Amino acid sequence: MNKKTLPLLAGSVILTGLGVYLYASKVEAKNFKLETVRVTTYGADGGQGNGNGKSREKKIFRILHLSDTHLSEPETDKLRFLEEVTDGDFDLVVLTGDVFENYTGLKYASSLLSRQPKLGAYAVLGNHDYYNYSFFNKIVGRINRRWRHPMEYRDVQPMIKALSSNGWDVLLNESRTHSEGVHVVGVDYPGIDPAELTRLVSEAPDGHVKLALFHMPRYLHTFVDAGVDIAVGGHTHGGQIRVPGVGALITDSELSRKEASGLIYRGKTAFHISRGLSADPRSNFRLFCPPAATIIEVVHKPYAVHPDHDTAYVAPRESSFVD
Ligand SMILES: [Fe+2]
Repeated sequence: MNKKTLPLLAGSVILTGLGVYLYASKVEAKNFKLETVRVTTYGADGGQGNGNGKSREKKIFRILHLSDTHLSEPETDKLRFLEEVTDGDFDLVVLTGDVFENYTGLKYASSLLSRQPKLGAYAVLGNHDYYNYSFFNKIVGRINRRWRHPMEYRDVQPMIKALSSNGWDVLLNESRTHSEGVHVVGVDYPGIDPAELTRLVSEAPDGHVKLALFHMPRYLHTFVDAGVDIAVGGHTHGGQIRVPGVGALITDSELSRKEASGLIYRGKTAFHISRGLSADPRSNFRLFCPPAATIIEVVHKPYAVHPDHDTAYVAPRESSFVD
């Protein structure tokens, strides 16, 4: 290696790193996608449904799933995207936490919902709503879990008020039932007692879709045990940085690297994990993982039995859970 090779190599590495960082933070982090997935749910339990002549009847619910908006700054692209997608024709719009990064973001709450969906707009809160994270938490907390979160929650009443006054129903371990056939349960951060979750889900009238909202993917088996048909959450941001063939580097949840976002199944429960629309502004960069909102088309068969009615809960084989 001659004298000029090392500085040239170092310069190339620095320039490449800078280029990747600029692309990840200025281009891909603003490349908002609207995607669609389809899920079939079944309203009848074993012993009824199939064979009664009604098992082919179905209802379709269009649900817009938003997550991890981390509102804090006047990010024009993100706010415009939110205003456009929420102007669509949906049965439900759901928002699964990390809505605000700080109190400054409250003034952008009006961009979260352009018009009322037919059956309502529901939100749950996430860890970034409850905690005001410092750099210390962000960096040292990765090494020692003791410092992962600030010592105290901040007051979330201003967040709840901002959402409520802009058309959202914030669910704090509560449920809502619609006679059109949907039962919604919202799990507040950091979680819910499994028995209470089961009780809230069991309030669903026969044949209703049992939909649950949560922020952080953990204790997913409790949703399976409670009999939830479809549960939607966020928190992972899809990993933010994904390596082709490997998946997310971290998921910050009980999910495996390949399950960091999208549709996954545990037992008879379908889970949709959103890539989210943003992140903490100090680390809002993405590679092979653009921000997204998702339309979930739920095809519900109220008189049909789940075809895999003996399916048991399967634990993930690997995870990168730091919380
Ligand atoms: Fe988040």
